[in-house]
Amino acid sequence: MATLGFIGLGVMGGRMARRLLDAGHTLTGYNRTRSKAQGLLDAGMSWGDTPRAVAEAADITFSMVANTAALRSVTGGPDGLLAGLGPNKIYVDMSTVSPVFSQELSQQVAAKGAAMLDAPVSGSVITLEEGKLSVMVGGDKAVFEKVKPIFLDIGPKVTHVGRNGLAVTMKIATNLSLAVQMLAFSEGVLLAEKSGIQRETAVEVLVNSVIASPMVKYRGPFVLEMPDEAWFDVNMMQKDMNLALELGHELDIPLPTTAVANEFLTAARGMGLDKQDFAVVFEVLAQMSGLKK
Ligand SMILES: NC(=O)c1ccc[n+]([C@@H]2O[C@H](COP(=O)([O-])OP(=O)(O)OC[C@H]3O[C@@H](n4cnc5c(N)ncnc54)[C@H](OP(=O)(O)O)[C@@H]3O)[C@@H](O)[C@H]2O)c1
Repeated sequence: MATLGFIGLGVMGGRMARRLLDAGHTLTGYNRTRSKAQGLLDAGMSWGDTPRAVAEAADITFSMVANTAALRSVTGGPDGLLAGLGPNKIYVDMSTVSPVFSQELSQQVAAKGAAMLDAPVSGSVITLEEGKLSVMVGGDKAVFEKVKPIFLDIGPKVTHVGRNGLAVTMKIATNLSLAVQMLAFSEGVLLAEKSGIQRETAVEVLVNSVIASPMVKYRGPFVLEMPDEAWFDVNMMQKDMNLALELGHELDIPLPTTAVANEFLTAARGMGLDKQDFAVVFEVLAQMSGLKK
């Protein structure tokens, strides 16, 4: 079995690393905030003092960080992941970041004699814990085939979508629908509620109706009770909407529903709700409709 490394042990990365340990892999990990890694260290993960140390220790290094700025920070500089790469090593970034930066990074990785895959995931904390996460992969097909068995330890659906940068593009194309669907769902609930239907009843009908995507099924009930900790907060959601809008602008593809849903995320931030799950767009619309929580 290849020796693995994991950089970025937050909500998603920490749980992925756990699945890799549970599958019997040897794992070295790094997180900017070391305390968050304690549970994994107790479960047998080794600690790398820097991203570079992790890449030096591993045959295949994974990263899962918040955004493009975080990825620049863990990959660049003398202690960065790139400095620890060399021939025969593979680097897999699973974060949702700028496709342009992801592609640039793959060239820098190639210059080190190593290979990179972009492998963002679609799903949530729950999907991940249930082992049902989908992984989209960009990069060389032969490298993809080498890493595929490890991806399958994270989730059951693994799809090679094309060259470097295209998986993260596919991920952005997927994620714009999350906020759009949540806003449309909120419109339906509020229309029903202001007409005299109990909010609980409207939610029950909608999450069992033809419009109930997996996301609407698990996030729809958040309009009745928001989770204490966001599954995917407003800032994170807006990061993906902005990436989609940038891409749309670049390719001359209008994204009208993305643009409108994005404005509701801006409104949520304006209302101080940025750390809440993005399902809070419901509350923004409820307030505009004269309906209280
Ligand atoms: N949550 C979801 O449902 C979900 C689903 C699919 C995909 N994703 C994607 O997965 C990625 C990670 O999301 P998450 O939910 O796991 O977020 P998270 O819990 O906030 O974790 C973010 C990770 O990035 C690290 N980080 C942030 N800024 C950094 C910086 N400047 N330098 C170094 N490390 C930095 C954090 O380190 P610290 O611990 O030190 O802060 C942490 O390890 C994102 O790209 C997101 O879009 C999330």
